[in-house]
Amino acid sequence: MGIRFSAKGCLEIRVKNILGDYNVMLLHSPMLNQDGEYGGMSNPVIYDKFATFMKFQTEAPKIVWDAFANRFGDCIEFFINRGIEVISHNIDPEHPSVLKRNSTICGPGKKVGGVIIHPPYFGSSPQSNKEGELSLCPEVGYFIGLSNHVGLVVDSLDEKGYVCAVGRHYRTKGRAIRLDEWFVGKFSGLNFKLVEVWRSTPDVAIVMQKFHVW
Ligand SMILES: C[S@@+](CC[C@H](N)C(=O)[O-])C[C@H]1O[C@@H](n2cnc3c(N)ncnc32)[C@H](O)[C@@H]1O
Repeated sequence: MGIRFSAKGCLEIRVKNILGDYNVMLLHSPMLNQDGEYGGMSNPVIYDKFATFMKFQTEAPKIVWDAFANRFGDCIEFFINRGIEVISHNIDPEHPSVLKRNSTICGPGKKVGGVIIHPPYFGSSPQSNKEGELSLCPEVGYFIGLSNHVGLVVDSLDEKGYVCAVGRHYRTKGRAIRLDEWFVGKFSGLNFKLVEVWRSTPDVAIVMQKFHVW
């Protein structure tokens, strides 16, 4: 008698395999230049690389949603200088081009070719005192909020679009959190494939692309 797999079982095996592939890619991924530590901000080289990556993609529209953008608009130029439209959201913006939006309940409002996701990390110090601020959420609320965000990303991404998720492997409240693996698991379960992995210290940027199952 042959072995039978349920759809759920197949998906679990696929996600497990992709996590294995991801950890091998991580081991061999290029280490980006960096200038010290960045606290709650990302290494600007990640933005620089993703903007360049998007510039040379011919399949996806040249519009990027920066869902958890720098509140002072610091990263906008990376896209603008490469002819890429950017929609920047932050819960507590300080720059006229950054829209005040809660990216766990509000998408970019149009189809985009790329999304960069650099949320506050669960357990990090508060990044604002505004309602919807992810760094203020307890663990369950944090991951529900981030899962809602992933749903909005899938809905707003062009069919050949790319995601660049920034996460890290860190410790908080006495335990290890693999936010990088959380992103890979979540997106691979939604039919995304791994494209590139870039390493900074301690952040990792994971580029994934939507694909279609016929
Ligand atoms: C880790 S920082 C990333 C900043 C940016 N990538 C940079 O390099 O400076 C995340 C930002 O998202 C904001 N934020 C938190 N919850 C949010 C939400 N629900 N929607 C939009 N922005 C949020 C935080 O206040 C913080 O400014």
